[in-house]
Amino acid sequence: LPLESLQSGGAGPLYLKLRQSLEEAILSGKLNHGDALPAERDLADYANVSRVTVRKAVDDLVRDGLLVRRHGSGTFVVRPVSRVEQSLSRLTSFTEDMARRGLNTRAEWLERGLFHPSPDEMMTLGLPADALVARLGRLRLADDMPLAIERACVSAEFVPDPLAVTSSLYSALEKSHARPVRAVQRISACNIKNPDATMLGVAVGAAGLSIERVSYLASGRVVEFTRSLYRGDTYDFVAELTIPE
Ligand code: GLP
Repeated sequence: LPLESLQSGGAGPLYLKLRQSLEEAILSGKLNHGDALPAERDLADYANVSRVTVRKAVDDLVRDGLLVRRHGSGTFVVRPVSRVEQSLSRLTSFTEDMARRGLNTRAEWLERGLFHPSPDEMMTLGLPADALVARLGRLRLADDMPLAIERACVSAEFVPDPLAVTSSLYSALEKSHARPVRAVQRISACNIKNPDATMLGVAVGAAGLSIERVSYLASGRVVEFTRSLYRGDTYDFVAELTIPE
């Protein structure tokens, strides 16, 4: 890394110069996606700057999504993905959307099991209090970049064994002949708070899109009630507009 010249080259705060050198190394491919960043102390020694300077530069790059901190294992380089364009009018699954872009999806499970429904879930899914629902809470990553936190709730009738859902919810529903054919979705702007911000690798207060989806079977029965939080810096929703008839 060309960090030796930080002290000598030009004016401006050291951490910004360090940030820029690291950013250049990532964008030019000198540091690859998934590479571990050297420990803070080593980087400070190597670049001949203080650990505070290193931390500030790294914080900046984490905020901008070029580095991600993984609890207990270190800081890693993230290949910048261009913003994802998502149609507003097609009912697709996250796994399908990412596969179409050549990205691999992975989930870190936050919650997965059978529960009695909350009042909200009872009303939305049209279930009695003694019914069971499967809750599937996931941090969703595309090529290791965290994109969204999704909390799905479906009647246990459709997903009797939530632990068997290892990747796509929609393909699990398809197997139970309950893949939704229609959905209503509400998207609203929000600021991402903790712990979500940490999980998504963004700064507290960063822009997010909060999305609620209620999806239906052809019979009109509700299948899914999902609340999602997408990173505002990676997702664009695109819709085709037509003149009302
Ligand atoms: C999108 C929707 C969710 C839906 C999910 C299914 O992300 N916002 O409401 O549950 O897709 O994705 P998958 O089948 O990959 O689990």
